[in-house]
Amino acid sequence: MTFFFIRPARPEDMDAIAALSDETFGLAFKSKEESRIIRQLHSDGDSLVSLVAVADDESIVGHIEFFRILINGQPLAAGLGPMSAKPGLQKSGIGSYLVRTGLEELDDLGETLVFVLGHTDYYPRFGFSEESAKPFTAPWSGPHFMALRLTEGGPASGTLTYPKAFTG
Ligand SMILES: CC(C)(COP(=O)(O)OP(=O)(O)OC[C@H]1O[C@@H](n2cnc3c(N)ncnc32)[C@H](O)[C@@H]1OP(=O)(O)O)[C@@H](O)C(=O)NCCC(=O)NCCS
Repeated sequence: MTFFFIRPARPEDMDAIAALSDETFGLAFKSKEESRIIRQLHSDGDSLVSLVAVADDESIVGHIEFFRILINGQPLAAGLGPMSAKPGLQKSGIGSYLVRTGLEELDDLGETLVFVLGHTDYYPRFGFSEESAKPFTAPWSGPHFMALRLTEGGPASGTLTYPKAFTG
């Protein structure tokens, strides 16, 4: 059992978050692109909610990023990602706790819609579905592109603009 707590990421966490991301995505996908995306989301002012999971020894063992998405040019939605849980500590609830805490925080901020491009057998457990994303036009589509409506209201369809960190 791993003991951890969740708190907002601080500017001084960035190097540890990037190192965790490089380790996790490096192992899973041989990719280090995600740490660049995280840094750019923050430096461009596109991060909405950024959380870390901290272990007993103060090390960062998980991270999740939520960022602003425009719908028809208006700041009406959020995106989830990148997220990572430390290899060796995965499947112990860190990722789920990060997702659920982040979604609650977005709800508190008044956000209504959250999009994710990710694992089809992971995000549906939080309520994300391909069906909910279908009315929206994005740079991507297909089963990995999913949405979750936090509350009623908000746009029913529209064209999404992702932050420059993703689209260049
Ligand atoms: C995806 C990730 C963040 C999940 O974090 P986690 O702490 O392992 O997840 P949790 O412990 O909360 O949840 C574990 C459950 O998720 C499932 N799961 C974990 N990673 C998964 C994946 N890549 N695809 C599908 N299911 C996955 C586990 O099988 C487990 O299922 P169960 O509850 O039915 O047993 C973590 O595995 C990770 O960092 N992966 C590499 C980076 C990555 O893929 N990030 C997401 C990009 S979309």
